[in-house]
Amino acid sequence: MPIIAPSILAADFANLEREVKMINESRADWIHVDVMDGVFVPNISFGIPVIEAIKRHAKKPLDVHLMIVQPERYVEAFHKAGADTLTVHLEASTHLHRTLQQIKAAGMKAGVAINPHTSVSLLKDTIMDIDLVCMMSVNPGFGGQKFIEHTYSKVIELKTLIENQQSKAFIEIDGGVNLQNAKPLIDAGADVLVAGNFVFSSSDPKELIQRLKHV
Ligand code: DX5
Ligand code: ZN
Repeated sequence: MPIIAPSILAADFANLEREVKMINESRADWIHVDVMDGVFVPNISFGIPVIEAIKRHAKKPLDVHLMIVQPERYVEAFHKAGADTLTVHLEASTHLHRTLQQIKAAGMKAGVAINPHTSVSLLKDTIMDIDLVCMMSVNPGFGGQKFIEHTYSKVIELKTLIENQQSKAFIEIDGGVNLQNAKPLIDAGADVLVAGNFVFSSSDPKELIQRLKHV
C-alpha cells in the first residue's frame, strides 16, 4: 500500500487546525508541507511559524519539502519547527552530500527532490545517503498543475538505480497526482504519493485519501 501525503499547500489556511485534524482522522500517513521562497521557485508559500502551528496539531509526521535556495542554512530551524523528513532540491544544493549528512545528524530523514528536467542519473552518487527521492511530476511552485507523463519512465529508471545499489530510498511523486495516475505510478515503483488539490478540492477529502490508499 502506498504512503499517502496530503499537501497542506492546498488546504484552507484560515482553518489550518481543522485541516490538520482532518488529516489526523484520515488514512493519510504523512503531512506534506511545501516551503517556497520566491527565489528558487516563482512563488512564496509560508515559513517556520506556520510549520510550528501545524506541528502543534499534527498526529502524523511532517514531510517538509524545501523549495528554497541554500537550504543548508535552515536545517536546524526546520528540525526545531517539527520536520520529520526534510527534503532539499538537488538543483539548489551545491554541496548536496554534506547537506544530507547535516539533515541526518539533526535527527531527520533526508530527502532529495528533483525537477522534471533533472536526470535521475545525477542521484547515482548519493542514493545510498538518501531516505526519500521526491520526484517532481510538475514544475515546482504551484499546486493544481497537470501531471507530466514523462514521470513514469523516470520512476522506472530510479527504481532500477535504487535496486542496483540496494538503497533503501523511498520514491515520492509530487504534483498532479490523482486517481487516474496513482495506480500506474505505484506499478512503476512509487512508494509515496503527495496529493494537494485533488484531495482538498473535494467535498470529502477523507474519502479521497482512503481511495488513494487503496488504489
Ligand atoms: C508543488 C508542490 C506540491 C503541490 C502538489 O510545487 O511541491 O507538493 O502542493 O499539489 P497538487 O497535488 O495540487 O499538484
Ligand atoms: Zn511538494
